Amino acid sequence: MAKCYMLYLVYLLIYDIHDVQAYSFEILSNLTTELFQTKSYDKTLRPRSDQSQNISLDVKFNFLSINKFDELEGKLVCTAFLGLGWTDDFLTWDYSTYPIGRFTLPQTLVWKPDFVLRNGFTEFKELGGSFYNVILTVDGDVAWNPYQVFETKCALDVTYFPFDSQTCDIVFTMWSHFTFQVSINPTVDNIVMDEYTSNSLWTIASTSQNVDNTGSRSVITYTLNIKRKPSYYVSTIILPVVFLGILNILVFVLPADAGEKMSYSITVALGFMVFLTLVSTQLPANSDNISMLSVYILIQICLGIFALVVSSIQLRIRHRDPNKELNKTYKYLVSFSRRCCKNENRVQSVANNQTKENIDLDKRVHAFDWNDFSSAIDFISFWFFTVIFVLSTIIIMILMTVG
Ligand SMILES: *[C@@H]1O[C@H](CO)[C@@H](O)[C@H](O)[C@H]1NC(C)=O
Ligand SMILES: *[C@@H]1O[C@H](CO)[C@@H](O)[C@H](O)[C@H]1NC(C)=O
Repeated sequence: MAKCYMLYLVYLLIYDIHDVQAYSFEILSNLTTELFQTKSYDKTLRPRSDQSQNISLDVKFNFLSINKFDELEGKLVCTAFLGLGWTDDFLTWDYSTYPIGRFTLPQTLVWKPDFVLRNGFTEFKELGGSFYNVILTVDGDVAWNPYQVFETKCALDVTYFPFDSQTCDIVFTMWSHFTFQVSINPTVDNIVMDEYTSNSLWTIASTSQNVDNTGSRSVITYTLNIKRKPSYYVSTIILPVVFLGILNILVFVLPADAGEKMSYSITVALGFMVFLTLVSTQLPANSDNISMLSVYILIQICLGIFALVVSSIQLRIRHRDPNKELNKTYKYLVSFSRRCCKNENRVQSVANNQTKENIDLDKRVHAFDWNDFSSAIDFISFWFFTVIFVLSTIIIMILMTVG
């Protein structure tokens, strides 16, 4: 902010330094007396001697910085100043009588166009402050450079957060003057970005401007395409969530005997809840589009809760009466997981007494107990959760970054 203001002051200095003029205070005082008293200037009336003539309002939009993009309210706050200029038929003087090229006056003394921000967030206010000056030139040209912090509405689409781009319009219009009275005439083709200072969260991808003098009121629209810099969100939200997801799978690596399974999976599930709260404070309360990141966290929470359910059932099974027989389906699951596990071992011991091992395995198949079944659940769930975790992570990440 302070930096922008300095830039603005420098701009004004350069603007004014061209013509250092030598004239006495008395001449200036006589000139203002003539303009404002003798000719009784009326700042409330549109300054055209022929009222059928329009005023062409020169407009230049100098963008200085993005201060803040409030996602919750959908509010873009930026700093900019406008270069406005028009011709006032009644603020001209005879250079031979008053040898003054230009001088400044408080903006409250002269007629100004009611050029306002149309998609502003707050009530309409006059641009500039009462202490701002306008610059008057001998042939009636008035230059006015109101510096302002503009708050505009900007509907945002959070689907691809934090890899999203947003398009924000800053719309100015003549509020009470019709186009045939005052028409907007941009002096440059685009937003002036010479003095732009970069923002830590947003970069400006492109800008454009569009003037519309066909309607009853003249409207000029400045469009900013801004892109979020994702690294902050990647390191504070995405990576921790992915790591938590990995921890979630480790529930099935812990042996059931350790007795920590339940508290461990509850802790991980709570960790996800905390992250969902964090993310939801960053996003707008918006039901039109849901961010993929929240969907991803939701999937992780579901996995966490599912893991919790599986673990508790598993603990229950683990402590079943050992004399009770396993039924057929359970036995099939155990031997299935055994076979998967054994595959690697078998490669090593293939040269060894293969037949003996087969006999061993056969024996064991018939001697399954509840403990074996609990380990089988661990094994199957581990791979099931790993596959779902990896697939959901890859798919969501691709969708987010590509979109
Ligand atoms: C300014 O106006 C006063 C009163 O009308 C007049 O006496 C004086 O000569 C004027 N000064 C100049 C420099 O024109
Ligand atoms: C404004 O006046 C100029 C000439 O005085 C004319 O060419 C232009 O079309 C007018 N603009 C509008 C919007 O009436």
